Amino acid sequence: MADLIAEIHALEQKAAQAIAAAADAEALQSASQDFVGKKGALTNVMKQLGTLSAEERGAVGKAANEFKTKLEALLTTKESQLRESKYASLGETEFVDMSVTPAEFAATPSGAVASGHIHAISRTQKQLEEIFTSMGFSIVDGPQVEDDYHNFGALNFTDDHPARDMQDTFYTKTGHLLRTHTSTIQIRALERMKPPLRIIAPGRVFRYEEVDASHEHTFYQMEGMIVDRKISVGNLLHLMQTLLTTIFGKEVDVRLRPGYFPFVEPGFELDMKCLVCSGTGCPVCKHSGWVEVLPCGLVHPNVLKSAGLDPNEWQGAAFGLGLNRLVMMQHGIEDIRHFMAGKLDFLRQF
Ligand code: FA5
Repeated sequence: MADLIAEIHALEQKAAQAIAAAADAEALQSASQDFVGKKGALTNVMKQLGTLSAEERGAVGKAANEFKTKLEALLTTKESQLRESKYASLGETEFVDMSVTPAEFAATPSGAVASGHIHAISRTQKQLEEIFTSMGFSIVDGPQVEDDYHNFGALNFTDDHPARDMQDTFYTKTGHLLRTHTSTIQIRALERMKPPLRIIAPGRVFRYEEVDASHEHTFYQMEGMIVDRKISVGNLLHLMQTLLTTIFGKEVDVRLRPGYFPFVEPGFELDMKCLVCSGTGCPVCKHSGWVEVLPCGLVHPNVLKSAGLDPNEWQGAAFGLGLNRLVMMQHGIEDIRHFMAGKLDFLRQF
């Protein structure tokens, strides 16, 4: 018995040396295995327990447990030392020299360092924000991870409404969803603000969509809504016209068709003549010559009612602009996937 206990004490010393010598996490792990692993030195000692009396077994077991506790403490201390020294030296090992060499500096036009610029979508969004704020609109925001109520329910989509399938949705495991449109923000604004009100809400939206030249799974919309007394289709169309002529700086060809959205009545699809192909047909307009950019309508009485407003007193007009497609029309961009492809050659053009 005494032999075995002496052996365990000897192991303690060896283990302490091996742990102290470990230069990294892997070496530490293998040192630990050498002593307490399945084929480790302590396990070998313990195999001899069978030859001892119950009392002796107890004494050796106690020594083995003490050994394990000490080893554990040594491992923990060493582990944190290794981690700290790794981070302390990270600045040297991972250092990247970002400075421009004198030769590179001299090669840039007029010696200036090339700087980045604002993304084409952000720029158009800013222009639109300026147009609308000058007309008395406020800019409002809402969460990208939403609940069913704000994305569908409060917008007059009943639980089994077939129009839910028009917007294929990403759901989270916790029963939330990624907003499929910025119309969620109409509801959030109605909850917070009292009419009369004028808001725009630019934002990122998500759809479980098969991507092609004009469809992305992640894209941008800008919602607009006016709630006031005596709002009519005339007000809505005037607003749409102002928006497009200001952004394009000229009259653009548009067509208005009836469009169905549960949260507006009447609803319209406002299409623009495709500026990528001048209406002759291309993948962006699916060879129809027209691109859907600006669906709109008068706010459905049920939406106003669920916000606690009397539809006889208050009316609303709303639109949901497809920002990516508008920017494609502005610049003649022939594929929506370029926006998120991270290609600098593409981005630098705008
Ligand atoms: C809507 O999202 C409605 N919330 C719009 C609305 C608001 C109607 C207020 C009435 C009143 P729609 O699913 O059609 O509607 O999308 C609006 C616009 O977003 C489209 O016209 C299009 O320009 C753009 N869009 C839709 N899906 C995609 C997509 N997958 N990729 C890029 N743009 C898209």
